[in-house]
Amino acid sequence: MKKQFVAAAAVAGLALGAVVAQGADSKGAGIKNSVHDLSGYGTGATATSYVKTVDPGKRLCAYCHTPHHSAFNNQDLAAEISYLGLDATSGLGTTAASYKIYAPLWSRTDVRNGGYGTYVSQTFDPERQNKVYDPLIGPSRLCLSCHDGSIAIDSYYGQTVTNPVTTGDAFNTALGGGGVNSIGIAGGYSAMAGTGGLTNDHPIGMRYSDYQGKQDPNGTDYELNVTTKTFTATDGSAGKTISSVLYTDPSDTNVNGFVTCASCHDVHNGNAVGNKAPEGNMRGFLLYGSQVQSSFCLTCHNK
Ligand code: HEC
Ligand code: HEC
Ligand code: HEC
Ligand code: HEC
Repeated sequence: MKKQFVAAAAVAGLALGAVVAQGADSKGAGIKNSVHDLSGYGTGATATSYVKTVDPGKRLCAYCHTPHHSAFNNQDLAAEISYLGLDATSGLGTTAASYKIYAPLWSRTDVRNGGYGTYVSQTFDPERQNKVYDPLIGPSRLCLSCHDGSIAIDSYYGQTVTNPVTTGDAFNTALGGGGVNSIGIAGGYSAMAGTGGLTNDHPIGMRYSDYQGKQDPNGTDYELNVTTKTFTATDGSAGKTISSVLYTDPSDTNVNGFVTCASCHDVHNGNAVGNKAPEGNMRGFLLYGSQVQSSFCLTCHNK
């Protein structure tokens, strides 16, 4: 990274911090000037921190979507499946199943199909519990085309930038997030074999109904709420239901009600976003519900 670039990014971060806290993450602010406004012309700190060149047309959507020449058609099958359906080698069953990649008019060609590793614990172990699991199902692989810590954010519309910004996977103070040190939540592709990748992240790619009303391997109830429960916004109003943020493919009965990155975050910072982050400088993180007293987590977890 060039020194000149670091200086520019630091100044932009200081000057624009207040705008990011109040505007970018607030309910219904939309993409413009949000953390996902990468046009280079928004007021978001992202403009100078993450994007080497501004978009020539000042476009917002282009970093993720294109009207033409999309990188995928949505009928392509995923090249690599973890445990969606069980394969013969698992010894647990023989109903191997692939699923269709979801990539709505996607403008980013550098999308990985696997290798990030999977979250497993003594109380959550889908393969051994005979449950389906594929972390990349639904929109999650799309998020990782920027958030995996290895793919350059301004590699879009078929171009590969020559000096990519890769990003980190670390705590960045108690406020969470806060830029290049943490947006690469998968820690960079090369680190994925070990403890990095998605092995240290809240699980995604499991079917909610496989856990709701069920017990963990120790015989303890998972204690998940029914999917009609709604997230609560910072102002106390009811937001989206759990079922509406789970991923379903109407053309595939196997793909029904999966937890993905977009079960917690609204990439478009749309009307659904219910976290205004009132506490100090804590950011909203595009979350569907308020973090105060962990109301957000308690929407799904009845703990
Ligand atoms: C930072 C990446 C990003 C940007 C920028 C972005 N989108 Fe999306 N969009 C996504 C992802 C990821 C999905 C998949 C669904 C999801 O995650 O909620 C999606 C899905 C969609 C869908 C189909 C699903 C639905 O909910 O209707 C439409 C339409 C859409 N985006 C329109 C837009 C438009 C218009 C813009 C620009 C104003 C835009 N998006 C900007 C990432 C982005
Ligand atoms: C179960 C809910 C949940 C899921 C699933 C989830 N996140 Fe998050 N994420 C959060 C919360 C809550 C925060 C806010 C930070 C905090 O409170 O520690 C966050 C923070 C972040 C941040 C800011 C960096 C940081 O470390 O704080 C990024 C980037 C992010 N998430 C991306 C993703 C991506 C990409 C996925 C899918 C691979 C994903 N998230 C899946 C809940 C979730
Ligand atoms: C085109 C690249 C791109 C895509 C695709 C993308 N993001 Fe982001 N995202 C970014 C950048 C850049 C930031 C800015 C981080 C900052 O300013 O700290 C960001 C910020 C975030 C943040 C807030 C982090 C913070 O520190 O406030 C969350 C949460 C997040 N993204 C989640 C997602 C999820 C979930 C998806 C998929 C549904 C997604 N993103 C898709 C590039 C992308
Ligand atoms: C959209 C629903 C949803 C939200 C929101 C959500 N979770 Fe989860 N979480 C799940 C599901 C489903 C599982 C897998 C079943 C289980 O372990 O309870 C899970 C698993 C976990 C696990 C792993 C349990 C294990 O056995 O290893 C922890 C810990 C956890 N969640 C904490 C949180 C926290 C903290 C938050 C808020 C930041 C949160 N979750 C938000 C649905 C959710």
